[in-house]
Amino acid sequence: MPDLGAAIGGRILFGGDYNPEQWPEETWHEDVRLMKDAGVNSVTLGVFSWAKLEPHPGAREFGWLDTLMDLMHDSGIGVVLATPTSSPPPWMGRLHPDTLPRAEDGRTEWWGGRQHFSHSSATYRRYAAAITEDLAARYGGHPALRMWHINNEYCTTDHGDEAAAAFRRWLREKYGTLEALNTAWGTAFWSQGYDSWDGILPARQPHYLKNPAQVLDFRRFTSDMLLECYVAERDIVRRHTPHLSVTTNFMPLWFGQDAWRWAEEEDVVSVDLYPDPRDPLGAQHGALVQDMTRSQARGPWMLMEQAAGPVNWRGVNHPKPRGLNRLWSLQAVARGADAVCYFQWRQSRQGAEKFHSGMISHAGEEGRTFQEVKRLGADLARIGEHVTGTAVRADVAILHDWHAWWAGAQDGRPSSEVDHPALLHAWHRALWESGLTTDFAHPEHDLSAYKCVALPRLYLLTDAAIGNLLGYVHGGGTLVCGFHTAVADEDDRVRPGGMDARLRELFGIRTLHEWWPLDAGERVECEGFHGTLWSEEIEAAGTADETIPYKGGELDGLPAVLRRGRAWYVSTLPEPEALRALLARITAEAGVRPVLDGLPEGVEAVRRGALLFLLNHRRDPVSVEVPGTHHDLLSGGTISDRITLGRYGTAVLRP
Ligand code: GLA
Repeated sequence: MPDLGAAIGGRILFGGDYNPEQWPEETWHEDVRLMKDAGVNSVTLGVFSWAKLEPHPGAREFGWLDTLMDLMHDSGIGVVLATPTSSPPPWMGRLHPDTLPRAEDGRTEWWGGRQHFSHSSATYRRYAAAITEDLAARYGGHPALRMWHINNEYCTTDHGDEAAAAFRRWLREKYGTLEALNTAWGTAFWSQGYDSWDGILPARQPHYLKNPAQVLDFRRFTSDMLLECYVAERDIVRRHTPHLSVTTNFMPLWFGQDAWRWAEEEDVVSVDLYPDPRDPLGAQHGALVQDMTRSQARGPWMLMEQAAGPVNWRGVNHPKPRGLNRLWSLQAVARGADAVCYFQWRQSRQGAEKFHSGMISHAGEEGRTFQEVKRLGADLARIGEHVTGTAVRADVAILHDWHAWWAGAQDGRPSSEVDHPALLHAWHRALWESGLTTDFAHPEHDLSAYKCVALPRLYLLTDAAIGNLLGYVHGGGTLVCGFHTAVADEDDRVRPGGMDARLRELFGIRTLHEWWPLDAGERVECEGFHGTLWSEEIEAAGTADETIPYKGGELDGLPAVLRRGRAWYVSTLPEPEALRALLARITAEAGVRPVLDGLPEGVEAVRRGALLFLLNHRRDPVSVEVPGTHHDLLSGGTISDRITLGRYGTAVLRP
């Protein structure tokens, strides 16, 4: 299977989405001059070019793209060629309304924006396959072509009639009989028993709460349908260019897509990452997404999009202060990226994203944004050969699963305050602030390489996952598990006792009497710390080795935290400092070491291959102790025992 190595040849891929169709041809030549100036070695062409390539049904306008592919090749810039299928031309919706998706209340999602396609529409799929086929046939042999980018941020849902038919087919395949479906969905509740497949709907808007098992299957179906669209296009381009790798760009922690499953179908995993420059935890959010993407990729991955300055889709869109673009780009490389790319090369003057930054902002060549992009290009060129293809190793993993998220995020649950991504962020933050490098893993993955596994909350766990966790702990691993976990089986059926009995035994829980969710802002006192969000009325079995009790209130004296051997259960969300301390203790006891001891606050250290990346997330200079003598690949200097990092400063040290 081709991988990223083939596309990059020892350089970090540096560039971005290039939308030349928005500009006159003179600008293309200006673009190339500036790209070379900035060290850009890759552009992604064609992401939103469908109407330009196929202005009328069946027409083909390739001339402009021929010119650009040649121009890029002549300039030594590689092309990641996108299939344009995320934004069908207006004629498609007009002539084929069946290609338009429907919201759960029946509302049509019209053209005039983007991503207005139904994943289940045979007409859409036929047109998408045809343009993909012709693109691959025409450019498969072009020397500028480095790899394929399929569609863009797959994210649509559809509740229309064609999706309904596809959903029924999907369900028939899964359940075989209506009886099995009725059992799995618990349709005895509220008189929902189906007497015909034709009666089943794609979770459209009802009067009151939806059937949660139906919603769960609809989410699985939606992810699978979008994946089918991806695979269909991937297979077409693969047939033409088996030597080139294929990707599609993920949105980070996107609810609609089981990215573990998707990653298996990609040669290279890529992600679009836009932390808020004003967010004090923006760097940690970046680290989390980077850790997750690396884990999905099981190796180097691509930062396919980021912003050189502000985005345009938050309420208030802040620019990146001087140096932050470089810092966050190098953070991605530290955490395994072999590509640092942007949306987009040149900031648009028209359209919905004209206030979204580009590598060249409206201020042009002299603008600070482009000047910083240029500097970054030079930095990446300096470190590329030392870093590409190398691995980041982690001794601790956080477990995450989309199915558990989908099932645990439904209406009608104990607390709508509980938010799956927020919990992942809280636990990841605790480890990040302790200077530990963290992978993510699926609960059914082989976990034996990890000394410690952290499970913030997985409301739904399959029997296979439970067996995996038991095997992991019995095999010597340390497991630390958050509240409201293993509540449901894979049909979202509550397990007897409100939590899987094998896991209760593992943690030393005799009875889980009640969940006591907390209001927003409410705290519960525990011995030595405060919990937030959630608490539980647990009776420990005699076998628990250690407990930390709740103090005061209804749960006074009952265990907030339990340990049995190497298995820990944490029935609340400790405040950030307390969670950090707890996880620091547990990981240390499991033998997990921070990347570097004594790191000052706000400084991140990551090892990638033989290199040590030091990243100062503060605006003031900071001095960091690094025992031994090192060569800083960025500054070219020699470092003995101590280094000073300036505002947002970074060092890439080689022993
Ligand atoms: C996404 C899309 C891009 C662009 C950016 C804006 O990542 O893929 O086309 O809309 O968002 O941030």
